[in-house]
Amino acid sequence: MVDLKIENLTKKYGETTALDKFTIDIKSGELLVLLGPSGCGKTTAIRCIAGLITPTNGQIYLGNRKVNELSPKDRDVAMVFQNYALYPHMSVHDNIAFPLKMRKEPKSHIREKVIQMAELLGIKDLLDRKPKELSGGQMQRVALGRALVREPKLFLMDEPLSNLDAKLRTHMRTEIKKLQKKIGITTLYITHDQVEAMSMADRIAIMKNGNIQQIGTPIEVYHQPMNTFVGQFIGNPQMNLINGSIRDESLFLFSQPIAIQPVDKILLEKKLTAKFIVGIRPRDIIILKKTDILTGIRLDGIIVFIEMLGDDTTVEVKIGSDNLLVTTNNILNPFVGDKIEIGIEYSKMHFFDDEGKRIGFT
Ligand SMILES: Nc1ncnc2c1ncn2[C@@H]1O[C@H](COP(=O)(O)OP(=O)(O)O)[C@@H](O)[C@H]1O
Ligand SMILES: [Mg+2]
Repeated sequence: MVDLKIENLTKKYGETTALDKFTIDIKSGELLVLLGPSGCGKTTAIRCIAGLITPTNGQIYLGNRKVNELSPKDRDVAMVFQNYALYPHMSVHDNIAFPLKMRKEPKSHIREKVIQMAELLGIKDLLDRKPKELSGGQMQRVALGRALVREPKLFLMDEPLSNLDAKLRTHMRTEIKKLQKKIGITTLYITHDQVEAMSMADRIAIMKNGNIQQIGTPIEVYHQPMNTFVGQFIGNPQMNLINGSIRDESLFLFSQPIAIQPVDKILLEKKLTAKFIVGIRPRDIIILKKTDILTGIRLDGIIVFIEMLGDDTTVEVKIGSDNLLVTTNNILNPFVGDKIEIGIEYSKMHFFDDEGKRIGFT
């Protein structure tokens, strides 16, 4: 097992900067998910690491060895893409065996390795089939087998589940995570799907415009987003962002003064600009009954939209000039136009400065 270190990786395509001083450190045996919207540079990063494109600048180290100058095949890196690119005329067995044949390994050894891999992936019964006789999930497993059979140092996956239907995707992400842990291979996994990232990652790196915004465990990036972009990219429905202001030395939100704990208030006021932003996750907002007690702010609102999700319901609530999303399992039969009272606990508020950077207490 090896670790992967990337320092200041930059890739320019003419005027476009696809990667901008991209820096990351993946620990040996770790599954790190690179998460970000389409076009943010994820594929560019992974292709530089695999050696398929040459970066404009920056260093790539695989287990302390600089690999920038090595050809793709000498890097000992395996890659699985969105389209599995299996060889259509070859059986499953031969597809998985292919990288070992290329290395001219002995036949008996190849046979043994392929069977081992097929057992691990639960596709031993399929070894004689051709790719066109396989389902999407089975093809995906064969592609994984072919990538991993030669025991590479590093495993790269670029949106490998995008072609599968939602149910299979959920199933395969668990399978891949289990497989990765069983083999213990250092893995960089790319997705634009935050649920996939949250469910699979040891750590997540969130990317925007060729840059990493934050790296942390799923819990860290969810509970302590470093900026409003991360706050809104992680979590569904997305975090509400509300503009706040300081007037007469008090913090105001929804035109109400907010009474933060004195220590926190001093901390905040030191760092706050006249305008700031408060992030609140829809699930952290409570629909109140008159008798409920709360250390936070209470607000009257009107329901303007309802989305039933099964276990939960998301309602859009108009409060003055702001609209807030509220996700709850505590509302029985809402109607558009209903008046409700909502509560937001101080401990559930994320404070950001007017440029969207996290401030104050955690
Ligand atoms: N071969 C290329 N030539 C020119 N621009 C490219 C090329 N490949 C990618 N880009 C640009 O680089 C940026 C990052 O692309 P990419 O790495 O594919 O993003 P992602 O995988 O996150 O969707 C995009 O603006 C894209 O248009
Ligand atoms: Mg991509």
